Amino acid sequence: MLTTLAVLGAGGDLTGRYLLPALVRLAAADELPAAIRIVGVDRAPGDDTSFRAEARERLDRHLPDRDTRRCEEVLERLCYRQADVTSPDDLDAALGDLPAPLAVYLALPNAVFSGAVDALTRIGLPERTTLVCEKPFGTGLADARQLNEAIRRGFGEQDVFRIDHFLAKQTVLNVLGLRFANRVFEPVWNSGHIERVDIVWDESLGLEGRAGYYDRAGALRDMIQNHLLQLLALVAMEPPTSLSERDLRDRKCDVLRAVTVPQPHEMNTKTRRARYTAGRVGGQDLPAYVDEEGVDPSRGTETYAEVTLQVQNWRWAGVPFHLRTGKALAGERREITVHFRPVPHHPFDDRGTPDLLRFTLEPDRIAIEINLNGAGEPFELERATLAARFAEQQLPPYSLLLREIMERDPTLSIRGDEAEESWRIVEPILAAWAADEVPLGEYPAGSAGPAC
Ligand code: BG6
Repeated sequence: MLTTLAVLGAGGDLTGRYLLPALVRLAAADELPAAIRIVGVDRAPGDDTSFRAEARERLDRHLPDRDTRRCEEVLERLCYRQADVTSPDDLDAALGDLPAPLAVYLALPNAVFSGAVDALTRIGLPERTTLVCEKPFGTGLADARQLNEAIRRGFGEQDVFRIDHFLAKQTVLNVLGLRFANRVFEPVWNSGHIERVDIVWDESLGLEGRAGYYDRAGALRDMIQNHLLQLLALVAMEPPTSLSERDLRDRKCDVLRAVTVPQPHEMNTKTRRARYTAGRVGGQDLPAYVDEEGVDPSRGTETYAEVTLQVQNWRWAGVPFHLRTGKALAGERREITVHFRPVPHHPFDDRGTPDLLRFTLEPDRIAIEINLNGAGEPFELERATLAARFAEQQLPPYSLLLREIMERDPTLSIRGDEAEESWRIVEPILAAWAADEVPLGEYPAGSAGPAC
């Protein structure tokens, strides 16, 4: 079990918004190792006292409703070291005397990420130190490859955790339970019975002050390259022999390798990008994306992305996987919908609607929509929804991921080859968009997205 967690980028948004609350929730669930010490590292001057005070303020903002006693316990375990995370000397001074087993969490922006990896591989860290890499892992395929190479100079793949918090969401993991622990679904889980799969992550939130990161990323890099492709991999993977990290990640990677991207002449019909203009979301005015502080309109960053991909293997050839995500949209729609083909012969006059299976990812719910005989006329069809709502996830995704890190189990993290495959998939789309081969559309904030 881990004794030290060093967080590089301790002053950043991620630490305040996700990591500190996740640590407190872990402590409240009695899952935080008793001896663990959490060392914040960042460029700004500070000491243990100022870091704890700052952490308390950030918890007030991001976890106001918390177990105060457990929170104080976590705060007592915090300490702070000032360092330029790209300087080997600074890092040596900050991390050199920390007791093993140690995990170093890179909660850092892209601009300093590879510098920090480089610096870490130059200093003498204890054997089998764990390296945790926050997303995005690189800015493109070449960059991700370089990062992987740099990481390999200092760390073994087993000790590297590339974070994708979607993999720790209960409903996402339920895709595995539903598919592989029930006899009824797997026989129809193929192109013979499934017509189309939609993976949708619509958000009503806008930029939320994240221009520094988001304006250089955009929806395709921010959501599709990682989260939505991971969802696709879980839906389309072959049954794993076990849920060990190797079996699970091998099967996911098989799917990613089989994904084909639209041909250059299809980019306009199979991909779409847009950004929001001013509008109202949830009763509040939202400025146009281009008017948000820190946005450079000339970058042409999309806040909405849609792509249709194919998984070219025996099970899925010919089935479109439609991925869509956007910010500042009318509603929160977060779901995977599996559309089944119509029955081969229909004895009813009214043919009903093909059945479908919907995983609603937040709030956690699963529903099957089917045709049944109606209550009125006996041979008229009615639509019925069989739905189940899940109990609230006990540990939020970041707490679950931190627990995996502390237990040194990388099952829920992305392997190096998976990260590269995901970039391989989005790279041609990014290139087509950068070359303006697909026009950048617009949609008013609070609408359903760009018009067709
Ligand atoms: C993050 C993206 O990884 O995931 C955000 O950077 C996005 O832009 C978020 O809003 C969505 O995940 P969740 O779990 O916060 O809904």
